[in-house]
Amino acid sequence: MPTQEQVKDALRYLLVPGVMRSIIALNLLKEVEIIDGKVGLTLFSAGLGEGTQEWLKVNAQEALEQLTEVTKVSTEFVESTPKEFNKIDSVIAIMSGKGGVGKSLVTGLSAVALARLGKKVGILDADITGPSIPKMFGINTRPIGNASGMLPTISPMGIEIISINLLLEHEDDAVIWRGPLISGAIKQFWEEVYWGQLDYLLVDLPPGTADAPLTVMQTLPVNGVIIVSTPQDLASMVVRKAVSMTQKIGKRILGVVENMSYLEVPDTGKRMEIFGKSRGKEVADAAGAPLLAQLPIDPKLAALCDAGEVEKYTSEAFDAFSEAFTEIALKSHRSKDGESVKTTS
Ligand SMILES: Nc1ncnc2c1ncn2[C@@H]1O[C@H](COP(=O)(O)OP(=O)(O)OP(=O)(O)O)[C@@H](O)[C@H]1O
Ligand SMILES: [Mg+2]
Repeated sequence: MPTQEQVKDALRYLLVPGVMRSIIALNLLKEVEIIDGKVGLTLFSAGLGEGTQEWLKVNAQEALEQLTEVTKVSTEFVESTPKEFNKIDSVIAIMSGKGGVGKSLVTGLSAVALARLGKKVGILDADITGPSIPKMFGINTRPIGNASGMLPTISPMGIEIISINLLLEHEDDAVIWRGPLISGAIKQFWEEVYWGQLDYLLVDLPPGTADAPLTVMQTLPVNGVIIVSTPQDLASMVVRKAVSMTQKIGKRILGVVENMSYLEVPDTGKRMEIFGKSRGKEVADAAGAPLLAQLPIDPKLAALCDAGEVEKYTSEAFDAFSEAFTEIALKSHRSKDGESVKTTS
């Protein structure tokens, strides 16, 4: 008689068409029943259309019939809601009071750092009017779904992504919405997306401290916040506002990243402080959190983002950032039953 483990192993290679992830990775398998040689599978229908469900039935049968002693395979789909289906261990929001300081970039790099460690990562692009995550990852496939919810689009590295840009007819279409609609969209991205099993969900926030960041902080169980700043005077002043809002809401600031700290002159290796002297430490002190990294202005990075290839980025500064960020992320993960989530919504 086959074991549960053998059945799961055989299904690990069954990729869901259009999503290209296995039913195991997507957390679609609800139950396996084995009686003598008869295997009964119960799968969540999780946003899958009828055609895909049929395809999975046929292919699950084919995969399992390869196992010795399997005499019959039956597959049943049960309705589910994202709420019962999702299992997200840690939610980290990336925030800054000011626009254009590199929040989206830091979100992207954070996701890449975690994915390189083998973590399952998703990005919720909460910037509804200025989404930039899909372009950075070079993705434009529309998420598939049905009335109960949708499945995120997957990046080449396997990072799950949901952004309003993926749902627009044309990626250049402008979204001209007011606060309540924007908040509604963010809530839907949380409540009506089949994220499945994730170690981390990173939330890329729009600039400012208005509706969208508030919605995220109050609707999602945010474990911690990463603050992004640049050395500019104005940036650090506005960032302090974001720090103050985060603290008022009772969320924990995990760390501060200073972006565009300097430019390394190619031939001499000399560092030029284009936006002025570093204020990273100052901002970090104000936030009561560590300064995780100082990222340089790197033309190679800008070019990779424009080409949709952020996942290919390597540099010494990125290595240092990855190490500091993943360490703090892992810690926030472990302390998720502690202080960090007690204060949340
Ligand atoms: N360290 C860097 N080196 C080179 N280019 C960078 C760096 N940081 C950001 N950029 C580029 O600057 C631009 C703005 O960055 P990004 O979109 O991440 O900022 P943002 O804070 O998310 O902006 P917004 O407030 O509009 O959401 C992007 O084109 C990005 O590729
Ligand atoms: Mg952004």
